[in-house]
Amino acid sequence: MLTDKDRIFTNIYGIHDVSLKGAQSRGAWDGTKGFIDNGRDWVIDEVKSSGLRGRGGAGFPTGLKWSFMPKENDGRPHYLVINADESEPGTCKDRDIMRHDPHHLVEGCLLASFAMGANACYIYLRGEYIREREALQRAVDEAYEARLIGKNNLHGWDFDLYLSHGAGAYICGEETALLESLEGKKGQPRLKPPFPANVGLYGCPTTVNNVESVAVVPEILRRGAGWFAGLGKENNTGTKLFCISGHVNTPCTVEEVMGIPFRELIEKHAGGIRGGWDNLLAVIPGGSSVPCIPAETCKDLSMDFDSLREVKSGLGTAAVIVMDKSTDIIRAIARLAYFYKHESCGQCTPCREGTGWMWRVLERMARGEAEKREIDMLLEVTYQVEGHTICALGDAAAWPVQGLIRHFRHVIEERIDSYAANPKPDDAVMQAAE
Ligand SMILES: Cc1cc2nc3c(=O)[nH]c(=O)nc-3n(C[C@H](O)[C@H](O)[C@H](O)COP(=O)(O)O)c2cc1C
Ligand code: SF4
Repeated sequence: MLTDKDRIFTNIYGIHDVSLKGAQSRGAWDGTKGFIDNGRDWVIDEVKSSGLRGRGGAGFPTGLKWSFMPKENDGRPHYLVINADESEPGTCKDRDIMRHDPHHLVEGCLLASFAMGANACYIYLRGEYIREREALQRAVDEAYEARLIGKNNLHGWDFDLYLSHGAGAYICGEETALLESLEGKKGQPRLKPPFPANVGLYGCPTTVNNVESVAVVPEILRRGAGWFAGLGKENNTGTKLFCISGHVNTPCTVEEVMGIPFRELIEKHAGGIRGGWDNLLAVIPGGSSVPCIPAETCKDLSMDFDSLREVKSGLGTAAVIVMDKSTDIIRAIARLAYFYKHESCGQCTPCREGTGWMWRVLERMARGEAEKREIDMLLEVTYQVEGHTICALGDAAAWPVQGLIRHFRHVIEERIDSYAANPKPDDAVMQAAE
């Protein structure tokens, strides 16, 4: 379990002073000039040695990503873009950073931009995040006023920070759709290559990073890469914000050490499973797009990128959705399928057609109005969508369905049997389908 002294987000619940003064009293903006004086390569090397992996879902090493930006400026400006779209169902960590600990992010933006030769950074916020934008704007204004950022600031690196507000589309969290939206166009993913590090915002070298990935950087530099690398496990280092929701007694967002056992995470911070551990059915461990895992697998599980991949799921955004035995798992996954169908931007056929197809079949399966051979047919469709699309929304739509069939095929079959035995749905079946 993480001790308080190793916590990065010391005001994640907003109980202390959020202002610049309050943040500085907790250590923010301390030594920032010294990090910049150490040079770009030093910052990137520290982030690399800390082992930090991106917190936006894919877990790509942050320092390595930064090193893809051109070393020399060819006349085009460089940009850092912060992904604060946070629309993955179950995920609610970045909003707490922006509301309650915004100076970690503002300072992180300056340092990351410096490391990549960018004099401007855009933070793209989810459309629904009104209060978050207001809180973050206050912090940005304070930083300008104190000359921590801006032209001729105290740190010696000219730097402007702008907030941009989305209109509430999940797909605008995909980094290239986000760039299109920032440019004022329809938020649809771009074909890659070229990658944003070469051709990004307005055709210029750009790096897109998640809020949490950048907000942890100042503390990594202050306490040293070795400190961060010493927490957690090899290749899965540091601390992580987990958002725990669903059938636990006290849902919460909490900063914990990467690789914390699932049982400990739930017992210590979420008050245990509603109705006790025997009542646990399944967990979606990383936001709606990763496959669910059944109770027997997750009890002894480590919550980190590699351990969750070993059980054919993923840490994703570390949004842990807990489902107890009262859950109709087919209906729950059908609801997620509806979300992906609704949010598909429609550019590629497998995603546009496949998401609707998967949703409609799952709706019938939730009622039992299906044939058993359709289970394999549905699985086959998920493989036709996965990996055959422009962006990862296709994968995100396919994986929950694969998880359902992998672990709960028997539940679908029982539902089909019970409907076949009584084709006019009785109250019990109707209730199960509600
Ligand atoms: C459909 C879709 C939605 C996404 N939504 C978000 C999001 O809301 N926030 C985020 O940080 N990353 C999101 N991502 C991942 C981003 O494309 C990108 O990988 C991430 O911002 C990189 O940041 P990181 O390297 O710091 O993790 C999404 C990806 C896809 C395919
Ligand atoms: S996978 Fe879906 S969301 Fe992504 S580009 Fe294709 S149609 Fe759009």
